[in-house]
Amino acid sequence: MKIRTSTLAALKQKEQRFACLTSYDALTAEIFDQAGIEVILVGDSASNTVLANDGTVPITLDEMLIFGRAVTRSAKSALVVLDMPFGSYEISTTQALENGIRAMKESGVAALKIEGARTEQIRALVDAGIPVMGHVGFTPQSVHALGGFKVQGRGEAAEKILQDCLAIQQAGAFAVVLEMVPAELAARITKELTIPTIGIGAGNQTDAQILVWTDFAGLGEKSPSFAKQYLNLRASLMVAAQSYRAEIQSGEFPAADKNFS
Ligand code: KIV
Repeated sequence: MKIRTSTLAALKQKEQRFACLTSYDALTAEIFDQAGIEVILVGDSASNTVLANDGTVPITLDEMLIFGRAVTRSAKSALVVLDMPFGSYEISTTQALENGIRAMKESGVAALKIEGARTEQIRALVDAGIPVMGHVGFTPQSVHALGGFKVQGRGEAAEKILQDCLAIQQAGAFAVVLEMVPAELAARITKELTIPTIGIGAGNQTDAQILVWTDFAGLGEKSPSFAKQYLNLRASLMVAAQSYRAEIQSGEFPAADKNFS
């Protein structure tokens, strides 16, 4: 079954939680899709995880579109959402529309995600027929303005995050990511919103969860404290690469059964 934004709305209605993961390539997208992950986000976390940048600010729309195309060619059921990178939508609704329309046409994704309560841009994109996912709390593209990787929405700041979520919903977004906010606030927002909330470092009372796939798979050297590693891919790849090298040195690989005659 093809997952659509209406599917996610129905899941929220039925109080049925759903799963989201990032992906930036054909093979992981195919696996996550076949595993039944409802939403695949082509996150701008590709900036760090794939392109080795320090943070998400440097990644460009052209780079994001390459990852988007790889994922949409592989994912048959999941709703594929593309992150609009820093600098591609903040200036005006015209800029958001030009880049948003290009992103939809060239990547084949079904929706876009933009960070912050940019309600004018969200409304303009939605009016143009583009489903939009919001993202509040810790928004990595604003890491410098936020003074580093910090939990957002503690104390009096909670109300502002709730109001931002309501404004994003009012502007027509179909879901909103809550990143690094207190679990109690995320639970309250989830109750108040009619659109699904997707938590990352936001407790377990949101309608859905998302993780960066390299954190979930234990591929990176470090991962955030809120992430759970479902396997230790880094250790497995390390052992495999060391075995491969040793077998080449010893002549064990390739064995005769791999030969062409
Ligand atoms: O880019 C990304 O991977 C994200 C998730 C952390 C939500 O925005």
